[in-house]
Amino acid sequence: MSRKTAQKSQDSENTKERSQKTGDAAFLDQTLRPASWTEYIGQKNIKENLKVLLKAAAERGHPPEHLLFYGPPGLGKTTLAHLIARETGAQMKSTSGPAIEKVGDLASILTNLSPGDILFIDEIHRLNKTIEEVLYPAMESGHLDIIIGKGPSARTIQLDLPPFTLIAATTRIAMLSAPLRSRFSGGVYKLEFYTDDEIERIIERSANILGVEIEPAAKKEIGKRSRSTPRTANYLLKRARDLAQVKNEKLTAPIVEEALRMLNIDEAGLNPEDRAVLSIIEDKFAGGPVGLNTLAAALSEEQATIEDVYEPYLLQLGFIERTPRGRVTTDRARKHLGKNMKGLGI
Ligand code: ADE
Repeated sequence: MSRKTAQKSQDSENTKERSQKTGDAAFLDQTLRPASWTEYIGQKNIKENLKVLLKAAAERGHPPEHLLFYGPPGLGKTTLAHLIARETGAQMKSTSGPAIEKVGDLASILTNLSPGDILFIDEIHRLNKTIEEVLYPAMESGHLDIIIGKGPSARTIQLDLPPFTLIAATTRIAMLSAPLRSRFSGGVYKLEFYTDDEIERIIERSANILGVEIEPAAKKEIGKRSRSTPRTANYLLKRARDLAQVKNEKLTAPIVEEALRMLNIDEAGLNPEDRAVLSIIEDKFAGGPVGLNTLAAALSEEQATIEDVYEPYLLQLGFIERTPRGRVTTDRARKHLGKNMKGLGI
């Protein structure tokens, strides 16, 4: 058996094994996670680079260098970190920027690492400045500077840390300081939206793991509405599967349409909140330009939520544009809104 064929058959074994556990909803999202590079669809360029980096590090007998993944939510940053841990056989410890409140929290995490561990920090942009500075020497030269005492009698002790790999993820690369960014010596990688073909392959793979038969037209329909995002694709697949099961029907395109109508998700995959962003710019601000803070106030949303959650896909669809004077809606958005205002209550 060639290596590729052996890998494929191993993947299909993994899939089978996992599909037996999917009765339990808690297992579900983990179960859909790819367990090998061949199972991970898309992000070709990142994958190629990471494979080289990991192989070279393994050959030299070092843990891989620190990595930073950024991009909109749901594109697979955490999934990639898990995959790297799996592929390298490393133990992964996970935390997040907001969970590390004090320097002591970070010191405790770092000193509890074992040699070769991966430390995954999600939402690293929410790490505060003082804590960030403790991370610098840890990343750069593997030690921790701890200040003991206060005032003139304060002194610094240095603790050596075991060799480890930091993998961090953020939706807000612009909020990371330049010194922090530059310490990701293994690289800073931007995850891209997935192509229609990649999303359909992800849906097909997930349907296989869930043990549901899906008609090609249903797969296409879910794909079209999944915001080019695997997490959304898997979510929509699960909701359509629920409806098919409850109605005792097959997973067909009309079932998908009905499930998505119930969720108020339109043909472009936009939900009422996305459409509200568009219609407020369009109706309240005559199509813009409108500044982010004004838009946030009008929507009663945080600016960060607009920037991280709503805007990336609206920009990708060409429904809004960012100009120096603010956000504007496009003709394409106007056409879409004309057809999809139902359910908005505006
Ligand atoms: N699930 C989430 N992201 C995925 C990907 N890139 N490939 C396969 N399954 C996924």
